[in-house]
Amino acid sequence: MIEACIFDLDGVIVDTAKYHFLAWKRLADFLDIPFSEEDNEKMKGISRVASLEKLLTLGNKKFNESDKTKFCHCKNEWYLQYVNEMTRDEILPGVIPFMEHLRLNNVKTALGSASKNARHILELTHLTDDFDAIVDGNDVVKSKPDPEVFTKGANLLCTAAAHTVVFEDSAKGIDAAISGGFLTVGIGLEEHLGHANIVIQTFEGLTLNFLKTHLN
Ligand code: BG6
Ligand code: MG
Repeated sequence: MIEACIFDLDGVIVDTAKYHFLAWKRLADFLDIPFSEEDNEKMKGISRVASLEKLLTLGNKKFNESDKTKFCHCKNEWYLQYVNEMTRDEILPGVIPFMEHLRLNNVKTALGSASKNARHILELTHLTDDFDAIVDGNDVVKSKPDPEVFTKGANLLCTAAAHTVVFEDSAKGIDAAISGGFLTVGIGLEEHLGHANIVIQTFEGLTLNFLKTHLN
């Protein structure tokens, strides 16, 4: 039985994963650190601070806390320049019909995002009211792969992890959901998300019946 669905935001609900990459790439270029899309894949799902640490490790660079704070601030300013131009066109295909399908079938929904910009993005795309609960990077102490963001979401919805599906585009997010005991759907490529219960490329045409059949 599926009682609830919890959605990651970046790369699941909206096409913002590419903007995180572009902003990190700009910082990487500034710091003279080679940074590829494959490197970026490992940063998906983790917090801003943890992402910066990964980038600096990649470049074998060390900075003091004050510089690191400035780098995170710059990256976020560059990221927000893209985000602030967003419209509802950047909601990923099939998301709105699928959420409508869930509502019609009394399945509750929550957002479970590592991003501190999540509420801003939901406002920009007029999606805030479509979720029964929202948990983002401002609400958690531990970031993915810790399950806190999803566990908090399930608690707000009053649902059990074993009856709640988590949709994630990052390997770390799937790790988090698995360790919290959730059912997992990877959005993206099998090679990155093969540890999820199932992997799909898009929400287009997705139904509860399909999930019930494939998650059992
Ligand atoms: C996650 C993204 O959703 O949020 C990560 O996948 C990002 O790439 C993280 O680092 C934190 O986001 P923000 O917007 O708070 O910097
Ligand atoms: Mg994501």
